[in-house]
Amino acid sequence: MEAGLESVVAAETVLSDVDGDAGRLILRGADLEELVGVSDFEAVVGRLWAGLIPASPDGSSVDLKSALGEARMEVWSEVERIDDGLLHLSPVEGLRALMARLGDGEGLAEALRVTAAPAVFTGALLRRKAGLAPLAPDPSAGHAADLLRMIGGQAPGAGQAAALDAYLVAVIDHGLNASTFAARVTASTRAGLVSAALAGLSALKGPLHGGAPGPVIDMLDAIGVASHARVWLEAALERGDRLMGFGHRVYRVRDPRADALKAAIRRLGVDEGRLALGEAVEAAALEVLRTRKPDRPLETNVEFYTALLLEALAIPPSAFTCIFAAGRVAGWTAHALEQIATGRLIRPRSVYVGPQPGARQAAE
Ligand code: ACO
Repeated sequence: MEAGLESVVAAETVLSDVDGDAGRLILRGADLEELVGVSDFEAVVGRLWAGLIPASPDGSSVDLKSALGEARMEVWSEVERIDDGLLHLSPVEGLRALMARLGDGEGLAEALRVTAAPAVFTGALLRRKAGLAPLAPDPSAGHAADLLRMIGGQAPGAGQAAALDAYLVAVIDHGLNASTFAARVTASTRAGLVSAALAGLSALKGPLHGGAPGPVIDMLDAIGVASHARVWLEAALERGDRLMGFGHRVYRVRDPRADALKAAIRRLGVDEGRLALGEAVEAAALEVLRTRKPDRPLETNVEFYTALLLEALAIPPSAFTCIFAAGRVAGWTAHALEQIATGRLIRPRSVYVGPQPGARQAAE
């Protein structure tokens, strides 16, 4: 059997399709490129949740922009309970602890609250860590704009909000990645949408999944100038390190999200020198990987340009995974709802390769 289950099909989904050979991502009937930079986060949440989300109590359709705004306000009531102990944790560990305080359930209210939570808690945690007072959400703002304001302290420009919307949409869902699988398994036990998102978040934070973009910044800073890239990258591979932001379990060509985010960076208009360094490091890394791993196509993944985009939005690298979670949580929730609708517990089997009882004595 394959330890990474790469050939195992573990769910049917209407939500997204990752074509690793063609480098194509479909999000519920639309190509990624039709949505990133075109639709805001709330619109794509609506696309994913359509037909899955439980109806509002009075049966009316949900205006997701205002419903998410109200949900941010509900989550905000938890912020005053942030104690100093949480401030010693990394932002994603603090976020995990705070999300665990939300009540579980499988209804619309829980779906909205858990989707609103990463934005509110990340803003509050970062400000408390910096010795600043957390800022209450503005329920009338767009989710991306409000997230940036709750972190940075002032309303972002339209370009900045649009760039974060592009990011949140680009990462909202991606087939049965590790965190989404964790969320579906948890939802299948009927533990609730908050538990499903917590399982997703816990899987996301690892450096092989959503923890990669912070280390991409470390890599760019350590390289410093383009002319040092090749030597630095060769030395990293010589040590047995993996290059963060490269390689993917499914894509054998370039991750389409990388170019969608690069385009968003260009629209935002970032520091040209930083982008040029990023492009030079990317080119050198691809060359070094091609030379050292000729049998394995290792291309740029979403995390490389995530790092440059979130850095340009003045988000601290320590919180990059929290911002990833702020987008992906809507996908986890959609998958959790889709899994619950199947009514089936996920419970695969293992192959026992340990000793049989009494085997040692028999051999002796
Ligand atoms: N740098 C160096 N070597 C790599 C890299 C990399 N980034 N990625 C894969 N390889 C090598 C492995 O060491 C292995 O080599 P070996 O056979 O000589 O031991 C071989 O390529 C395995 O390739 P795959 O089977 O394609 O890789 P796998 O599916 O196991 O891993 C993963 C995928 C975890 C994403 C990997 O490419 C990696 O660690 N990348 C760096 C971390 C990263 O960027 N993570 C974000 C992924 S995107 C996301 O989750 C949102």
